[in-house]
Amino acid sequence: YLPDYCLGEYNGFDSGDYRAYSLKIKNGNGDSCTVLKYQSYRIFKGRLELVGLPNADIDDNTETLELTLFDEVTDICVKLYYTVYSEDDVISRYVTITNNGKEKATIEKCMSLMLDLPDCNYDMISLYGGTQNERKYQRVPLHHGSQSIFSRRGFSSPHFNPFIALCEKDATQTKGNVYGFNFVFSGNFLDEVEVDQHNFTRVQIGLGSDNFSWGLNSNETFVSPEAVMTFSSCGIDRMTRNFHRFTRKYILPAEPFETRPVVINPWEAVRFDIDEKLMLEFAKSAKETGIDMLVMDDGWFGERNSSFAGLGDWFVNKDKFKNGLKSFVLKVKEYGIKFGIWIEPEMINEDSNLFRAHPEWCLRCKDREMMESRNQLVLDMGNPDVLKYLKETFTETFKDIPIDYFKWDANRHSSQVGSMNLPKEQQGETAHRYMLGVYDLLDWFRRQYPNAMMETCSSGGGRYDLGMMKYGSMIWTSDNTEPHSRIKIQYGSMIAYPAATMSCHVTEHTECEDPKKLNYRWQVAMGGALGYELLLPKASKTLKENIKQQIKIYHNYEDLILRGDYYSLLNPFETNYSAYYFADEGYERILLTFLQVDAEKPKEILLKVPETEENAKYIDEFSGIEYSGKNLCDGISVMTEDSDCNSKMWAFKKII
Ligand code: DGJ
Repeated sequence: YLPDYCLGEYNGFDSGDYRAYSLKIKNGNGDSCTVLKYQSYRIFKGRLELVGLPNADIDDNTETLELTLFDEVTDICVKLYYTVYSEDDVISRYVTITNNGKEKATIEKCMSLMLDLPDCNYDMISLYGGTQNERKYQRVPLHHGSQSIFSRRGFSSPHFNPFIALCEKDATQTKGNVYGFNFVFSGNFLDEVEVDQHNFTRVQIGLGSDNFSWGLNSNETFVSPEAVMTFSSCGIDRMTRNFHRFTRKYILPAEPFETRPVVINPWEAVRFDIDEKLMLEFAKSAKETGIDMLVMDDGWFGERNSSFAGLGDWFVNKDKFKNGLKSFVLKVKEYGIKFGIWIEPEMINEDSNLFRAHPEWCLRCKDREMMESRNQLVLDMGNPDVLKYLKETFTETFKDIPIDYFKWDANRHSSQVGSMNLPKEQQGETAHRYMLGVYDLLDWFRRQYPNAMMETCSSGGGRYDLGMMKYGSMIWTSDNTEPHSRIKIQYGSMIAYPAATMSCHVTEHTECEDPKKLNYRWQVAMGGALGYELLLPKASKTLKENIKQQIKIYHNYEDLILRGDYYSLLNPFETNYSAYYFADEGYERILLTFLQVDAEKPKEILLKVPETEENAKYIDEFSGIEYSGKNLCDGISVMTEDSDCNSKMWAFKKII
């Protein structure tokens, strides 16, 4: 067994290792003891597919180490997997648990990754927050004892993001050892870090035990979700870039379009007040403005005139779209733009035909009154009948309609997580079965509509994780689009996730009629996939012309933003600014951005682009001014302002 003065790979509960445990199983005989012994190993090309769960793709270099462990009393067999993505310094970890014994066992805690470090002198970086306030950066020293972040909300949630990093105390953006961890899963999770009496640090990432248990009959296997880890010996930025590259290469789905469409989403401007006439006005003005796609948000179906009714009734509202959805979408297409549509498949209103027909399809605990949030309830996505209904309904509603884009929303978290479809001894499986059902439906959408891309959303960025990114290549970053707040939300998101995953929209029509404010909002939104949420049909000629120019510039640099390497220069949680650049591999093109948060007394700041070749020559394509590589290394000068919308961008192109 593993005494607690040794470094381990995975440990069972009550095994003589008194530190945080990876696996707890209620055995057939009633005890909870699991003592894992090493049996064998093998190394193979590729990896294990995690059926029903999102997992990273492979390429020709991908290899996997499999370690087999067993408990000789219960005949539980645990396989640990280490899939190596060597080009990006990422190792993916997952486990399978097989009951080779005769009696039923119940898993009560399951972690996907355990890593023991022989020291404890680290700070922990994590991202916490709430709706409108997602992914706030926090860096705190580890202490003896246990420190954890988690979700018990059924969704990975904005409460804590599943990403964490441990960095040496004096690590900076460019110096020091940094370990990064993340979870490829969108439901409940536990990131547990424990510093013990020997000054060792144990890191674990996995499902944890809250609202989780899984019955395992003889010969059945449970497959854990995947966790990923990376290491950088040269600071936080490199850890970030490892995860960015890994996510772009092995997680994000291939997109059906060569360039990302710039969207107009009318939600912020008109909320539920939509109909065919208004949406066509948006489509017409989108075309005039150089926008690529209209995304019709909430309000197009059932009796959906507010958040109180309609969810679950996925049939077009004939009062708003008299000639039906197909005829409307074809008219949008006549303007030469693409079409996207909003859905919220996991949810249901009590005031809906679906609820009246199937009240038993909601998550609920027996004999308890159901708890609404945003006037809605959560469907029991682990129930196959619910999935069947949703697939049939969407098939009928979207039949023969050329949809280019789905925005998949989910506007509340789950509570009273019980299923009317499961017997009492399986109620603890409800939350995990829920996520398996969500992934089943997401996968179905991708297959059913292979030419459409997907943006996911959860009251903004409430489910911003690698699991959702496997199906939707971008996530609506936050409902908070106020640019000063957005600077921080985007900074926090970028520590763990690439810019390609961030939907960034310019909003607030009245403000945007002021060119300086529009420019500031746009430069903030140029940190990810650009879009707009303005009352476009009422936009002035100047606003339309300005947007046209912005989109042209965005498309010129889209490749760098969405696929380039990200280098962070100033952290808005520690200073009054954010500054960063995207560069291609050869440093041929560099897009540098400076964003000031609050007004301040003017002063000069130098933004250094350190890895530039000193003798190279660059031209800034925005100003036409030439710079040497040395100028970039020494620092580009920018003045701060006593104004609340100071920002600047440079687009350096190497000429020699
Ligand atoms: C929350 C999202 O974050 C918004 O963008 C919008 O889609 C609404 N839901 C619609 O109900």
